[in-house]
This record gives sequence, C-alpha cells and structure tokens, in this order.
Amino acid sequence: MKKTAQAPANIAFIKYWGLKNNELRIPTNGSISMNLSGLLTTVTVEIDDALSKDDILINGKADTDRSERVRKHLDLIRNKVGLKTKARVATHNNFPMATGLASSASAFSALTFAAVSAYETSLSEREISILARQGSGSSCRSIPSGFVEWIGGDSSESSYAQSIFPPDFWDIVDIVAVVSTDEKKVSSTQGHLCVLTSPFFSARLSHIDVKLKSVKDALGKRDFDRFGSLIEQEALELQAIGMTSKPPILYMSPETIEVLQFVQKLRENGLPLYFTLDAGPNVHIFVEAKNKEKVLKELQRISSIKELISNVPAAGAKIVERHLF
Ligand code: PMV
Repeated sequence: MKKTAQAPANIAFIKYWGLKNNELRIPTNGSISMNLSGLLTTVTVEIDDALSKDDILINGKADTDRSERVRKHLDLIRNKVGLKTKARVATHNNFPMATGLASSASAFSALTFAAVSAYETSLSEREISILARQGSGSSCRSIPSGFVEWIGGDSSESSYAQSIFPPDFWDIVDIVAVVSTDEKKVSSTQGHLCVLTSPFFSARLSHIDVKLKSVKDALGKRDFDRFGSLIEQEALELQAIGMTSKPPILYMSPETIEVLQFVQKLRENGLPLYFTLDAGPNVHIFVEAKNKEKVLKELQRISSIKELISNVPAAGAKIVERHLF
C-alpha cells in the first residue's frame, strides 16, 4: 500500500521548551500553536514486502543521520500497529530544513499520518498525535486542524494535541521574515535538555498555566493586542531561558534584532503587529488580514530579509492523492 500525506509546520504562541521525559518526549508544559498554510511537508510511504530495510529519501537525499530518526519512528509505528513490513519513504519540504522554521514538526506529522494510513490501520487523531509526538514533540500539534493545544500530560497516553479553534476562526496572518536559511547550530532536541539548567526555568514553570489560560482567552475573544503582547513576551522568555542555560544558546542574530526593532517601530507608528520567535533567527510577524499588504510593503524595505512567507491558519495533516514517487 502506498499513501501520501501533507502536513503544515506550526508556530507556537506558548512554547514547548523543555522535556520531563526525554525518551517519550513528554514536555515540561503544555503549548498552543497555529498551523501554517505556507510551510508544508509532503511524505509518501510505500509498504513493500520485498524490502529488507527501510529505504528513505529526505528532500532527495539519502541522509544518514536523519534517516536513522525516520527509521526509528517507523519502528514505533510498526510496533503500535503490530506489523513488520519495511517501507519506502520520500519527503519533500516547500521550505528550508532545520532553520527554526519547524521542519521537523511538518515532517514527522506527515510521516506519521502517511505511515499509519499505508499500514492500513485506523487510529484516532489523538492516537496519531501521540505517535507523532514521539518523533518530534511539536509535530503532534500539526496533526489536528487550525489553532491547537498540546496537553502536556504526565504519561505517553495523556500527552496529545487537540484543535481548540478551526482555521477560519480568526483572520490573522503570520508573515515569516526569513533572515537566514543556515542550519541552526543547536538543535531543538539539544535545546530541550539544556534549558532545564537555566536558573529562570522554574520561574517559567511557576506561571506557565496562567500564560496558557491567557493566550487561550485572548484567542477565544479575538483580542489581537492582548494576544500579540502575550506572544511577544513568550518569545522573549524562550530566548532568555536559552541564553541563561548551560551552555548558553543564542538563536537571535543581528538581523533578528533589526526586524524585532522594526516591528516595534511600526507599532509605535500605529500599525498593530506583533512578533514571535522559535529556536532560530527567523521572525514570525502576526498581523490581522486587513493589514497584511501594508505590513508586507514595510518589511520589503529591510534588505537583510531574504524572503517573506505569508501563512494563514491551516488545516492539519491530511492524505493527498499525488505521490512523490
Ligand atoms: O519539536 P521540536 O523538538 O522541534 O521543538 C520545538 C521547540 C520550539 O519550536 C522552540 C517551540 C515550539 O513549541 O514549537
């Protein structure tokens, strides 16, 4: 059986940043995100009795490090569905990998979705998100649709993602200002372990439930200014925790700061827009749809921005007809 799935990357409003169980990828806290319509991964999985080993091609390359992680994930899925047959896998991203644009989220959610379907097993959305989570934590949030909450949980079965609002709930746009497409120096997997050493990590955990509730409330009320200031605070907290970890992690570059300051300046001049950041130098800028063109025009003036990618809230992982091979 051959199946192809497509899944979006997602951007977190409240971040997954720290693990309490490394092996099962159970996070220290819950998180909330939005699926991104313009950052997609497609994965084709074909089950083939003739294969003695999984055959994996990632964006056209038989890349050994990443292939091993994919193989391990296929084993997990096979174990869950009780089958042993090996698979042929190809993946394609429409954006650069490992630059903090959440390629692992879209990749592992598309892989999980395609594989579950190729092995002809019917699992619930919750079960698929639990499987995806074990491949790459944030990928569990790309399974459900629209605005999504990952319930942190304290066991594998209680750590899953669910939709809190559908994609058309709110007409907002995430403009990604790409300032670098270089591979990030510290992977998020390393980051999740390192951040526990920050002296500010316990302070973060002490107010994280209030933050989650506030963001959910601002989203529910479509209160853009409240939502925007909450996501900016959270983005800077993630960076601050990284910078005060041992060893320290500095994801921002001078170009990142330039964009953040530009956003602040535009806001002072009366344009409502807010930023968030992930584990990388690129900046996500949130605007209401009605202000998108105006903001895009302003951002085009910054020469250090290499590319602008506009995203609206998107559906989650789905099966598509067109195979990669
Ligand atoms: O799923 P990972 O291991 O790539 O971690 C993602 C971590 C952040 O992007 C920094 C935050 C998040 O919640 O997406």
